[in-house]
Amino acid sequence: MTSSTPQPSLPAGTEVFADADAIAEAAADRIVATLAARPPHARLALCLAGGSTPKRLYARLATAAYRDRVAWSRTHWFWGDERMVPPTSGDSNARMAREALLDQVPVPAANLHPIPTDGTPEACAAAYEATLRAFHDQAAPGADRHPLFDVVLLGLGADGHTASLFPGQAGLQERERWVVAVPQAAQPPHVPRVTLTLPALASCRLMLFLVDGESKRAPLARIAAGEPLPAARAGTAGERRWLVDRAAVPPAAD
Ligand code: 6PG
Repeated sequence: MTSSTPQPSLPAGTEVFADADAIAEAAADRIVATLAARPPHARLALCLAGGSTPKRLYARLATAAYRDRVAWSRTHWFWGDERMVPPTSGDSNARMAREALLDQVPVPAANLHPIPTDGTPEACAAAYEATLRAFHDQAAPGADRHPLFDVVLLGLGADGHTASLFPGQAGLQERERWVVAVPQAAQPPHVPRVTLTLPALASCRLMLFLVDGESKRAPLARIAAGEPLPAARAGTAGERRWLVDRAAVPPAAD
């Protein structure tokens, strides 16, 4: 794994890697280690990011080097956001994760919890919130104040959004609901969305941001300068790490 060194002007918890492949390898290692650290037979849950960046990581988790290190039968898969398109659409986050990973590994169908897109955004958001709350309440009785997810994966949009929490939109201010509808996406694809809110995303043991490529220099520089962009506001009581590649590091942070 490429060694990484903290960068002073980047968000705390930032690690810089040579390229997107090195990020995918580091993220896969962190995920496997976080899940392996849970008690044997514990129910495990991941919240997947959409967009294109995580595809490399998902494909790596499906390789022989990783597939035998995940307890597929007791690991549950959720999504941080979804575009309101059919699950067969090329814009579907669920389709991307299924093709890159979930259709390649022995995960029980009952452990897959895609965000529904077969109704209005509001109805689908309400249904997914009910799914999350039911899953959380079904944790082993007496479990400590367990977070919703073991791992939350997030990306960074060109405008600093994460999941489908866009700058200046109401969803970003939501503190009670776990899932909300997004009538208008501020970045492509310009379709309505459903997104988890900051409180829901924060409920995890490990939050990993995956950021690669020159196109992410600008939003990363804004976050390093202290702008409270949505991705900067996504925190957790658990561990938060930004896995970025050299191409995404703003020149000043070099
Ligand atoms: C989505 C994602 C979104 C994504 C960023 C980065 O549904 O689009 O959840 O938040 O992570 O837009 O997208 P890329 O990885 O494609 O750059």
